[in-house]
Amino acid sequence: MMSRIPLMAGNWKMNNDKRETLDFLSSFLPKVKELTVEIVICPPFTSLYAAAEKLVGTNVKLGAQNMHWEEKGAFTGEVSPLMLKELPCDYVIIGHSERRQYFAETDETVNNKIKSALKHELAPIVCVGETLEQREEGITIDFVMGQVEKALKGIEAEEAKKIVFAYEPIWAIGTGKTASAADAQEVIGAIRNKISELYNKEVAEAVRILYGGSVKPENIKELMAEADIDGALVGGASLKAESFYAICSFNL
Ligand code: 13P
Repeated sequence: MMSRIPLMAGNWKMNNDKRETLDFLSSFLPKVKELTVEIVICPPFTSLYAAAEKLVGTNVKLGAQNMHWEEKGAFTGEVSPLMLKELPCDYVIIGHSERRQYFAETDETVNNKIKSALKHELAPIVCVGETLEQREEGITIDFVMGQVEKALKGIEAEEAKKIVFAYEPIWAIGTGKTASAADAQEVIGAIRNKISELYNKEVAEAVRILYGGSVKPENIKELMAEADIDGALVGGASLKAESFYAICSFNL
């Protein structure tokens, strides 16, 4: 079986201006120097350039939180894959539930963005996850598998291998209420099976699937012990160097 490198990604959302980003990195970078997991920070757009300069020659990678799928043009307020690539960013979060809920992103725009990110050699971190109502109705697996299938529409196997999925149950985001490791594994295992069904076992074994939703130093070990959980997409607990370091060093 192929072994997947664990990935810890910090999604800062609309937090950490330029100064706070640089302060974070001054204290975070020396701490994580020797760690073997892959680490990504996703600051807001206005902090990306300063972060990119500071990350040169380090073991921490840079990601954006969103992008448009077009390369350039009349799209006021949007940022293109070429602009992210130039910084350079390595990753881009696509289809976070907050973007789907508050900014009208759909499975179709998510699919367009994933294709564009892959074309420009940005690794997409594609977010999927159910609402509390959907979980209570017992349709979690069906709903999330639908999101995965629509996200992957028209994407070739070799390209699909480069995608990172993040399973983020909406009811667990910012609520302090983490999914149990077993519940997270159930959905993430189902995502891997779905990828195997859509492509083959080789693609399914290559794709990394993260869990997100109230991940903190206290619960990361238990989540990472599950067979199919390859890392975490961390919101609140990634804002402070100390707690994100504690998450990234879960295996020490
Ligand atoms: P919290 O870790 O703050 O719950 O946020 C999770 C998330 O949405 C990461 O993308």
